[in-house]
Amino acid sequence: MKRMCLVCQNIDCKSRGSEQLIGELEKRIGAKGLDDVEVKPYMCFGACQEGPNIVLYPEKSWYANVKVEDLDEITEHIAGGPHVKRLDTIDPSLKELIYQLLDTGVV
Ligand code: FES
Repeated sequence: MKRMCLVCQNIDCKSRGSEQLIGELEKRIGAKGLDDVEVKPYMCFGACQEGPNIVLYPEKSWYANVKVEDLDEITEHIAGGPHVKRLDTIDPSLKELIYQLLDTGVV
């Protein structure tokens, strides 16, 4: 299974720049040669007020309020670096719900 970076592209996240994030993240992942990682749009994670939201799957990391300036650190994490703790602000119960949904194959 490919690793995925799911970038919400619904209205709230888009209004805060998630369209730009998806393109910039693709560039960074490509530049690092992370061929096993796919950057994909996602319909909505249900944390719209805390967007833009990015979820890494299947490893299950969720980054909220992401800005372009955060993408280098997120890319480092995807490449095996440390988890970006300051962007991990979503309520654990919502995270669990979304991870369960993703586990069922709803991607
Ligand atoms: S609009 Fe992005 S989580 Fe809902």
